[in-house]
Amino acid sequence: MSAETKTKIDFHQIDEILESFGYDKTNLIMILQKIQSIYKYLPQDIITYVGDKIEGLSPASVYGVITFYAQFSLEPKGKYEIKVCDGTACHVRGSMPVLEEIKKKIPLEKGRMTTKDGLFSIETVSCLGACGLAPAVVINDKVYPQMTPAAISIIIDTLLKEDE
Ligand code: FES
Repeated sequence: MSAETKTKIDFHQIDEILESFGYDKTNLIMILQKIQSIYKYLPQDIITYVGDKIEGLSPASVYGVITFYAQFSLEPKGKYEIKVCDGTACHVRGSMPVLEEIKKKIPLEKGRMTTKDGLFSIETVSCLGACGLAPAVVINDKVYPQMTPAAISIIIDTLLKEDE
Protein backbone atom coordinates (compact mmCIF):
# COMPACT_ATOMS: atom_id res chain seq x y z
CA MET A 1 0.00 0.00 0.00
CA SER A 2 1.45 3.41 -0.84
CA ALA A 3 1.77 6.23 1.66
CA GLU A 4 -0.80 8.21 -0.31
CA THR A 5 -3.51 5.61 0.26
CA LYS A 6 -2.65 5.31 3.96
CA THR A 7 -3.02 9.01 4.69
CA LYS A 8 -6.49 9.98 5.83
CA ILE A 9 -7.12 13.61 5.06
CA ASP A 10 -9.47 15.80 7.06
CA PHE A 11 -10.62 18.31 4.45
CA HIS A 12 -12.68 20.17 7.03
CA GLN A 13 -9.42 20.89 8.84
CA ILE A 14 -7.81 21.99 5.57
CA ASP A 15 -10.72 24.38 5.01
CA GLU A 16 -10.20 25.82 8.47
CA ILE A 17 -6.52 26.40 7.70
CA LEU A 18 -7.32 28.04 4.37
CA GLU A 19 -9.91 30.22 6.07
CA SER A 20 -7.49 31.27 8.81
CA PHE A 21 -5.17 32.54 6.09
CA GLY A 22 -8.02 34.23 4.21
CA TYR A 23 -7.76 31.95 1.14
CA ASP A 24 -5.00 34.37 0.16
CA LYS A 25 -2.41 33.11 -2.31
CA THR A 26 0.23 35.38 -0.79
CA ASN A 27 -0.04 33.20 2.35
CA LEU A 28 0.61 29.98 0.44
CA ILE A 29 3.97 29.23 2.09
CA MET A 30 2.47 29.59 5.57
CA ILE A 31 -0.55 27.50 4.58
CA LEU A 32 1.70 24.72 3.31
CA GLN A 33 3.89 24.92 6.42
CA LYS A 34 0.82 24.55 8.63
CA ILE A 35 -0.48 21.58 6.64
CA GLN A 36 2.93 19.92 6.61
CA SER A 37 3.22 20.36 10.37
CA ILE A 38 0.09 18.20 10.69
CA TYR A 39 0.72 15.52 8.04
CA LYS A 40 4.55 15.64 8.07
CA TYR A 41 4.41 15.94 4.28
CA LEU A 42 2.11 17.31 1.60
CA PRO A 43 -0.14 14.62 0.13
CA GLN A 44 -1.14 14.96 -3.53
CA ASP A 45 -4.87 15.23 -2.68
CA ILE A 46 -4.18 18.26 -0.49
CA ILE A 47 -2.04 19.91 -3.16
CA THR A 48 -4.92 19.56 -5.62
CA TYR A 49 -7.45 20.79 -3.06
CA VAL A 50 -5.44 23.87 -2.10
CA GLY A 51 -4.73 24.69 -5.74
CA ASP A 52 -8.44 24.50 -6.58
CA LYS A 53 -9.65 26.44 -3.53
CA ILE A 54 -7.38 29.49 -3.65
CA GLU A 55 -8.13 32.01 -6.31
CA GLY A 56 -5.24 32.70 -8.63
CA LEU A 57 -3.60 29.32 -7.98
CA SER A 58 -3.82 25.89 -9.56
CA PRO A 59 -2.67 22.46 -8.39
CA ALA A 60 0.29 22.80 -10.78
CA SER A 61 1.35 26.17 -9.35
CA VAL A 62 1.09 24.85 -5.77
CA TYR A 63 3.15 21.83 -6.79
CA GLY A 64 5.71 24.21 -8.33
CA VAL A 65 6.08 26.08 -5.04
CA ILE A 66 6.43 22.85 -3.07
CA THR A 67 9.16 21.50 -5.31
CA PHE A 68 11.01 24.83 -5.26
CA TYR A 69 11.43 24.94 -1.47
CA ALA A 70 13.51 22.22 0.17
CA GLN A 71 11.47 22.57 3.40
CA PHE A 72 8.49 20.89 1.76
CA SER A 73 8.18 17.15 1.31
CA LEU A 74 6.06 15.19 -1.12
CA GLU A 75 6.61 11.97 0.78
CA PRO A 76 5.91 11.16 4.44
CA LYS A 77 8.79 11.84 6.78
CA GLY A 78 10.05 9.02 8.95
CA LYS A 79 9.43 8.57 12.65
CA TYR A 80 12.97 9.88 13.13
CA GLU A 81 13.76 12.93 11.00
CA ILE A 82 17.51 13.26 10.75
CA LYS A 83 18.81 16.61 9.53
CA VAL A 84 22.52 16.85 8.82
CA CYS A 85 23.85 20.36 8.52
CA ASP A 86 26.04 21.03 5.53
CA GLY A 87 26.51 24.74 6.15
CA THR A 88 30.05 26.10 6.00
CA ALA A 89 30.83 25.75 9.72
CA CYS A 90 29.59 22.16 9.82
CA HIS A 91 31.09 21.21 6.48
CA VAL A 92 34.61 22.29 7.43
CA ARG A 93 34.30 20.43 10.74
CA GLY A 94 33.36 17.14 9.11
CA SER A 95 29.61 16.93 8.50
CA MET A 96 30.06 14.88 5.32
CA PRO A 97 31.75 11.89 6.98
CA VAL A 98 28.90 12.02 9.51
CA LEU A 99 26.35 11.96 6.69
CA GLU A 100 28.18 9.09 5.01
CA GLU A 101 28.05 7.09 8.23
CA ILE A 102 24.31 7.75 8.55
CA LYS A 103 23.72 6.61 4.96
CA LYS A 104 25.81 3.52 5.57
CA LYS A 105 23.74 2.55 8.60
CA ILE A 106 20.41 3.60 7.10
CA PRO A 107 20.36 2.72 3.42
CA LEU A 108 17.81 4.59 1.31
CA GLU A 109 16.42 3.61 -2.05
CA LYS A 110 17.65 5.80 -4.88
CA GLY A 111 15.80 9.11 -5.00
CA ARG A 112 14.09 8.57 -1.62
CA MET A 113 14.68 10.44 1.64
CA THR A 114 12.66 8.08 3.85
CA THR A 115 13.27 4.41 4.55
CA LYS A 116 10.70 1.90 3.30
CA ASP A 117 9.63 1.04 6.84
CA GLY A 118 8.98 4.72 7.58
CA LEU A 119 11.43 4.75 10.46
CA PHE A 120 14.02 7.27 9.22
CA SER A 121 14.17 10.33 6.97
CA ILE A 122 17.53 11.80 6.12
CA GLU A 123 18.09 15.25 4.71
CA THR A 124 20.79 17.86 4.56
CA VAL A 125 20.14 21.45 5.53
CA SER A 126 22.21 24.55 4.93
CA CYS A 127 22.36 25.80 8.54
CA LEU A 128 20.64 24.73 11.73
CA GLY A 129 21.45 27.96 13.52
CA ALA A 130 23.82 26.10 15.82
CA CYS A 131 27.14 26.84 14.11
CA GLY A 132 29.01 26.93 17.44
CA LEU A 133 28.10 23.26 17.87
CA ALA A 134 29.40 22.19 14.46
CA PRO A 135 29.11 19.69 13.04
CA ALA A 136 25.51 19.52 14.19
CA VAL A 137 22.80 16.98 13.53
CA VAL A 138 19.15 17.38 14.52
CA ILE A 139 16.91 14.39 15.12
CA ASN A 140 13.27 15.28 15.74
CA ASP A 141 14.14 18.80 16.93
CA LYS A 142 16.88 17.65 19.32
CA VAL A 143 20.32 19.04 18.47
CA TYR A 144 23.28 16.68 18.64
CA PRO A 145 26.47 18.77 18.79
CA GLN A 146 30.00 18.07 17.56
CA MET A 147 29.04 14.90 15.76
CA THR A 148 31.55 12.35 14.57
CA PRO A 149 30.85 9.20 12.54
CA ALA A 150 31.39 7.11 15.70
CA ALA A 151 29.03 9.27 17.79
CA ILE A 152 26.20 9.28 15.23
CA SER A 153 26.61 5.54 14.80
CA ILE A 154 25.92 5.01 18.52
CA ILE A 155 22.90 7.35 18.41
CA ILE A 156 21.40 5.47 15.46
CA ASP A 157 22.00 2.13 17.18
CA THR A 158 20.16 3.46 20.23
CA LEU A 159 17.19 4.57 18.11
CA LEU A 160 17.10 1.20 16.36
CA LYS A 161 17.14 -0.57 19.72
CA GLU A 162 14.28 1.58 21.03
CA ASP A 163 12.24 0.50 18.05
CA GLU A 164 12.83 -3.24 18.29
S1 FES B 1 26.54 25.78 9.51
FE1 FES B 1 25.82 24.04 10.61
S2 FES B 1 24.62 24.90 12.18
FE2 FES B 1 25.23 26.61 11.02
